[in-house]
Amino acid sequence: MPGEHLFQFLIHEQRRNPGATGELTLLLCDVASACKAIAHAVNRGALSGTLGAAGSDNVQGEAQKKLDVMTHEQMVAALEWTGHLTGMVSEEAEDPIPIPLAYPKGKYLIAFDPLDGSSNIDVNLSVGTIFSILRAPDHTRPATAPDFLQAGIHQVAAGFCVYGPATVLILTTGNGVNGFTLDRDIGEFVLTHPNMQVPADTAEFAINISNQRYWEAPVQRYIDECLRGTDGGREKNFNMRWIASMVAEVYRILTRGGIFLYPGDNRNPAKPGRLRLLYEANPMGFIIEQGGGAASTGRERILAVSPTHIHQRVPVILGSRHEVERVVGYHSATG
Ligand code: AHG
Ligand code: MN
Ligand code: MN
Repeated sequence: MPGEHLFQFLIHEQRRNPGATGELTLLLCDVASACKAIAHAVNRGALSGTLGAAGSDNVQGEAQKKLDVMTHEQMVAALEWTGHLTGMVSEEAEDPIPIPLAYPKGKYLIAFDPLDGSSNIDVNLSVGTIFSILRAPDHTRPATAPDFLQAGIHQVAAGFCVYGPATVLILTTGNGVNGFTLDRDIGEFVLTHPNMQVPADTAEFAINISNQRYWEAPVQRYIDECLRGTDGGREKNFNMRWIASMVAEVYRILTRGGIFLYPGDNRNPAKPGRLRLLYEANPMGFIIEQGGGAASTGRERILAVSPTHIHQRVPVILGSRHEVERVVGYHSATG
């Protein structure tokens, strides 16, 4: 019901599921608390002393920003003690992060991108946090990397927070997609966008066109047709957006439709795409599908991909169903 606080909403969801123990509700509240703390730091900008480079690289070989490191530490500190997890995977840590011996372990695993859209921090554009929750195969021992290698269809819950003009939290537990806005006066996420739906059709695409020369033929064809619009055989003309924060792009798609592509390209065979499966593509794929959209690598449903590595990258094409289906069709036509 609009106006419900996050905890109230989760308790109502929990009561609809007779087998629920409440552990997931509590875990999601802990994630939301971490997001509130991160929202506060992001919102203070230069005043929090967190802008600029950290002077280190992460496991992906990417230069870390101070805020990448700080948000990673905030997520770990907010979640390690809760008793709901047996391990965590973060974009900013090479190996799974164990739960300290001092704390009990729980039945879930979490994979997160603590700060998505890092290139936007210093220029004051939207950034966010993305997370995916899985069941731990064995909660009596610390989680290992293979425990996380589950296809996205096995996600129990997924969500993301956008630190934009307003801070919003988007959540799915496999029963639709709901959006909450942070009311800073009371410190609560309030349900403002119940049952978000991705329109099946769109005339808006999002892609980093500076990579065009590296794309595969089906993506070249699709974007070329969008650019030429009614002059090139499409029934409409297209508009383009590229924010370079997936959280902001997916939020826009959930609000008014659109297609987002970060395709595979031939720059580096070791990196089939830019986005990471476990903590970017899978949670976003789950959310988009739950909103009635589609999410594919071009050749396979994202949620069906069997992970082989915790930091594995995949091509991502997601959003309005009819446009995603068209791009997938172009891939099948090329083989
Ligand atoms: P991150 O900041 O976690 O590394 O992720 C950034 C991602 C995604 O949010 C965005 O869509 C894309 O990378 C931007 O990539 P380009 O800089 O190549 O446009
Ligand atoms: Mn990211
Ligand atoms: Mn990140």
